[in-house]
Amino acid sequence: MKLSIIGSGYVGLVTGACFAEVGHQVICVDNDPKKIQMLLAGDIPIYEPGLEELVTRNVASKRLLFTSSIEEGVHHGEIIFIAVPTPPQLDGSVDLSYIEVVAREIATVLKEYRVIVDKSTVPVKTGEKVAETIRRYNKMNTHFDIVSNPEFLREGCAVADLMKPDRIVIGSNSDRALALMKKVYEPFMAPILVTDINSAELIKHAANSFLALKISYINAVASICEASGADVEKVADGIGSDKRIGRNFLNAGLGYGGSCFPKDIAAFIAISRQLGVPFTLLEEVQRINASSLERFLNKIREALWVLREKKIAVWGLTFKPDTDDIRCSVAMQLVAQLLKEGAQVTVYDPKGMDKARELGTISGVSFASSPLEAACQAEALIIATEWSEFANIDLLALKKTMHTPLLFDGRNLLHPDVVRGAGFVYVSVGRS
Ligand code: UDX
Repeated sequence: MKLSIIGSGYVGLVTGACFAEVGHQVICVDNDPKKIQMLLAGDIPIYEPGLEELVTRNVASKRLLFTSSIEEGVHHGEIIFIAVPTPPQLDGSVDLSYIEVVAREIATVLKEYRVIVDKSTVPVKTGEKVAETIRRYNKMNTHFDIVSNPEFLREGCAVADLMKPDRIVIGSNSDRALALMKKVYEPFMAPILVTDINSAELIKHAANSFLALKISYINAVASICEASGADVEKVADGIGSDKRIGRNFLNAGLGYGGSCFPKDIAAFIAISRQLGVPFTLLEEVQRINASSLERFLNKIREALWVLREKKIAVWGLTFKPDTDDIRCSVAMQLVAQLLKEGAQVTVYDPKGMDKARELGTISGVSFASSPLEAACQAEALIIATEWSEFANIDLLALKKTMHTPLLFDGRNLLHPDVVRGAGFVYVSVGRS
């Protein structure tokens, strides 16, 4: 099928590449000409395992094209996917201006029937607004249908998530659009859930909020474990082996971050308030998340007493492993706080250091080229992101290079007995 994706960011680019991989003819549109030039030259603006090979292969076979012309995109695809950013505003509600601009631009060049699909995470009822906008700005009264098709991919395994999705949600009120959408997804052989447009939109916010709730739940349980001498990992295994609960997303630690969870939970709270049914449970989820970092910082303060002039090493800057994304990363917040309190911080991250340098919010920090170099002469080491490289570290070499063998594991990556056996003082989350 001929498909167009408007917005070649994280979701748009990975979706476009995966659609091309299963045989569709895809054109990815972006209004940033520099990004399009980069993509045309074979450079991928983000790090995502498997993406580069996928893009290179499909560009070579001419199934994946790039353009900065929205008109070309609207002309090319029988289905047009909108995958532009929906950033948060100061009050937590969603800034829909990028979606609105794209809707207007589509309207001005729409000449034949098209299915216009919202892939970005948007508040419930956005589909209705997009339809109204296109109707208002399209002078030719062209027939079109609106579909909501939220994306559930996780960074770090986005290609795998897209190629083998748990489910595909299609929100539509048109049989014609639904038939075309089913054809798009046929090669993926995944269960398809058909709903109305509003339900599909709501599913995305409700799913991410539920996952965040699970994380805050286990972090609250971790505090109780610390107060009572229990072990949160064992508790998580015990409750997670109940199939109704499941072990995933029950890893206690510094809390959730990233470009989706903080924004989506804030948005769902704002949406619920606007609808007159405040979802106050989610406010508690946010509060527990913020306090997870603060509680961990208190353990560091308690052990080191004064942080000023202390040499502290931090492993991990990205919001989770296998990505170079540092947006809303708890690790970055932790480093910023240590710097604020006067510590001398040296960091190492396998993929996130370039973006951290560019961002500049932790400008007082020193960047090391390996985990051991970061730990050299450190009075304490903090694991802030659970990269597998850190799990396999040579503990004896680490102890030798540090000034004091004091290890704070913010992601419960290491085994307490092993680390203590190697001569470290070891502090983690929800475990004594
Ligand atoms: C998330 C959703 O999982 C995905 O479906 C949606 O499309 C986008 O948002 P992503 O932001 O890539 O994906 O990250 P995810 O793997 O869900 O992790 C989010 C955060 O939660 C990370 O900071 C991670 O460290 C944290 N987390 C996750 C925990 O603290 N504990 C856990 O048990 C799981």
